[in-house]
Amino acid sequence: MSEANQITVAIIGGTGLNTMSGVRVVEEHVVETEFGKPSSPVFELELEEVEGKPRFYFLPRHGKPHAVAPHLINYRANIAALESLGVKKILAVNAVGSIDPKLNPKDIVVPEQVIDYTHGREASFFDGTVKPLQHFDFSDPFDASLMETIKAVSEKAGCNAIFEGVYGVTQGPRLETAAEIKRMAQDGATLVGMTLMPEAVLAREVAISYASICLIVNPAAGVSQAVITMEEIYQAVEEGMGQVQVLLKALVAELA
Ligand code: HPA
Repeated sequence: MSEANQITVAIIGGTGLNTMSGVRVVEEHVVETEFGKPSSPVFELELEEVEGKPRFYFLPRHGKPHAVAPHLINYRANIAALESLGVKKILAVNAVGSIDPKLNPKDIVVPEQVIDYTHGREASFFDGTVKPLQHFDFSDPFDASLMETIKAVSEKAGCNAIFEGVYGVTQGPRLETAAEIKRMAQDGATLVGMTLMPEAVLAREVAISYASICLIVNPAAGVSQAVITMEEIYQAVEEGMGQVQVLLKALVAELA
C-alpha cells in the first residue's frame, strides 16, 4: 500500500468534515488539472486504528479552511484531480436540511435520487469546450453496488442510516424560502443541500462510483416554524459528524 496509485477510495468532505480523527496525514498532493485547481491539496490519509492501516484520499470541497461557497466550488477540478490520482470510488459527505418531516437533525441518510435546481455551474467535462460533447445516462445517479456496501457496513457498525430519499440541490449560499421548500416537497425532494451537483454527474462521466452520505443538520425552511440558525446547524454538525466518521472509517476499512 505504499504506492499512491494503489489508493482507490476518496472521501469528499463538506460542512463539518474538514478533518477526521484517528487518521495520519501521509502526504498532501497538490494537483493541477486542465480545469484548474481543486478546492485544496488532496490529502492522502492512513487509518491508524485499522489493521493494515488502509489509505484513502480526502478532499474538503469547501477548501481548508472552509471558505469556498457551494456555487463557486470548482467541481470539475475536484473530480479531475481525484481521477488523476486513480480514484475509483467516492464517498461524498453532505450536510443537508430535511424536507420530509419524518427526518430529524443528526439522522444519516443515503439518498437514492437527485433533483438539480442549480444554475450556471460548470456541470460537465464533455460540454464541447475542453472535451467534445457527449451525453450520459444518469437515471440512477448513485452507484448501486457502493450503496449496497454502505448499507451492509452501516448495519454492521450500528449506524442506523436511512437508505431512501431524494436530494434537491439548490444554488446557495443563501438558504431557501419556505415557498421554495414547499415546491421542492411537491417535486418529491426529501432533503435539501447545495453541493451534490454537479459533483455526482462529473464522477459518473469519468466512471468513478459515487454515493452520498448525508447528515441532517436542520429542518428546511418552513418545515419547522422556527427561524434556521447557524448555531443549530453547527450543533447538529458537531453532534452528528462523529457517527458519520464511524461509518466512513468502517467503509474505508472495507473498501480500501
Ligand atoms: N438548505 C440548503 N442547504 C443546506 C441546508 C438547508 O436547509 N442545511 C444544510 N445545508
